[in-house]
Amino acid sequence: MEVVILPTAEQGGKLVADIIASALRTPGTIGLATGSSPLLAYRELIRRHREEGLSFSGAQAFLLDEYVGLPFGHEQSYRQVIRRELTDHVDIDPAAVHSPDGSGDDPLSAAEAYEKALVAAGPVRVQVLGIGANGHVGFNEPGSSLSSTTRIKTLTEQTRQDNARFFSSAEEVPRHVITQGLGTIRRAEHLVLTAVGEHKAAAVAAAVEGPLSASCPASILQWHQHATVVIDDAAAAQLHRADYYRYTFEHKLTGQGF
Ligand code: GLP
Repeated sequence: MEVVILPTAEQGGKLVADIIASALRTPGTIGLATGSSPLLAYRELIRRHREEGLSFSGAQAFLLDEYVGLPFGHEQSYRQVIRRELTDHVDIDPAAVHSPDGSGDDPLSAAEAYEKALVAAGPVRVQVLGIGANGHVGFNEPGSSLSSTTRIKTLTEQTRQDNARFFSSAEEVPRHVITQGLGTIRRAEHLVLTAVGEHKAAAVAAAVEGPLSASCPASILQWHQHATVVIDDAAAAQLHRADYYRYTFEHKLTGQGF
């Protein structure tokens, strides 16, 4: 695992965009996350598409998760969010942007179908991840099986409160979601977790330096052959080995890449 600590969120966004852009050089599947953490990276990708010709035309994109019970087209459904924040602004085929269907009356079958679609699409080259304040990735709340696949999860009250800012009241936040499992996420070839701000510092420290444990779902990064954590100084504030991570980044060998 490589931990890259950068002074500003903007620099982190550029680095995450670099990693995604290099995965886009050849046709393949990329894994997208919603939430505020990857937004700067998405803005940078849109800029590169407009100004530098970066193309998404050969890509399939799969989202991590979706709320259950929001009507199709609801503005806070992750299906709509990723369109608004990224895919409507680049040249990806809209039919190639996939997300679990939480709007129908059979979310259990929708979860199974999503897992199958992911397997059929082939390996996810780069999976973008945010992290919840309680260490969740996707919507895998603490206690999620480390080998889980796409399924229904029940949100913790903390996550519902954290996400209430996107709805007119906390009561409107759905209780259930469909999320890729930790086993699903682990199949991706490269995991890139990004976080900014002091409110993420404890979760980042638990994920990177705590035990590998279902109690901190993001700790699965420690078990992955290719994981990169891109954070700003504030999100790095509780890391014991922060100096070493900075030193490593400053002394990367030419061609070492990410
Ligand atoms: C939601 C999403 C996660 C995201 C997390 C953190 O719960 N399901 O994928 O990582 O929020 O969101 P933010 O990046 O806005 O802090």
